[in-house]
Amino acid sequence: MNGKERLIVALDVDTIEEVEYLVNELKDEVGMFKVGLQLYTSLGNDIIKYIKERGGKVFLDLKLHDIPNTVSETVRVLTKAGVDMLNVHSQGGYEMMKLAKETSIKSALELNIKPPKLIAVTILTSLGDSEVAEIGYIKSAKHMVEHLGLLTQKAGLDGVVCSPLEAGLIKKVCNENFITVTPGVRPAGGEVGDQKRITTPLKAITGGSTYIVVGRPITKANNVKIAAKKIVAEMEGI
Ligand code: C5P
Repeated sequence: MNGKERLIVALDVDTIEEVEYLVNELKDEVGMFKVGLQLYTSLGNDIIKYIKERGGKVFLDLKLHDIPNTVSETVRVLTKAGVDMLNVHSQGGYEMMKLAKETSIKSALELNIKPPKLIAVTILTSLGDSEVAEIGYIKSAKHMVEHLGLLTQKAGLDGVVCSPLEAGLIKKVCNENFITVTPGVRPAGGEVGDQKRITTPLKAITGGSTYIVVGRPITKANNVKIAAKKIVAEMEGI
């Protein structure tokens, strides 16, 4: 994969006008558009159709976390809507993840389309050791990431969302082709904002990230195209 294919831009906006501007400017510069809760709850499945019609790929970041049947039925609907990648929460358990994966493959087969990549969140990067202990887990955040990464792989999913600082660990314990999608990436010398444990595009890729997710450093830039191009160049070590 080249740098462009590895770059996912987070569309953390809620109007169609903002999406229109960002998708037009960025569709030839990035690999995928991430639609999260903010945009999805504003515009629903129409936004998936909108991006796909303009040639963009969609990573739907809803972090589904419910009983197996509910998640599976939702995955069926989203596969039909044409998402290219979507995620569940690994803490929903092995059975939930396994059924979700089986459903995505079955639904895609019925429609004769490519099944979406199904990945799982391990431990949210906003949670550190003290918050993980507060929830009641006995293991450290790092051990939980490893444990849940392996569980996700066992359930047959394609990869995980994790911190770029944990991607290397996942690559070490899981199969070579198990993918890691990592937010918390900031261009060298750029503004950090509210992200805490960050790394640069190049360090993320060399550290084991398959895809990086970047939001504000691109979407809030004066020239979004140039901002995206710079990140791709950084990833490629240019
Ligand atoms: O603007 P920024 O680059 O910080 O955006 C990062 C995106 O990745 C946001 O959509 C955020 O919700 C998401 N994300 C994250 N950390 C996680 C999971 C998702 O920053 N652990």
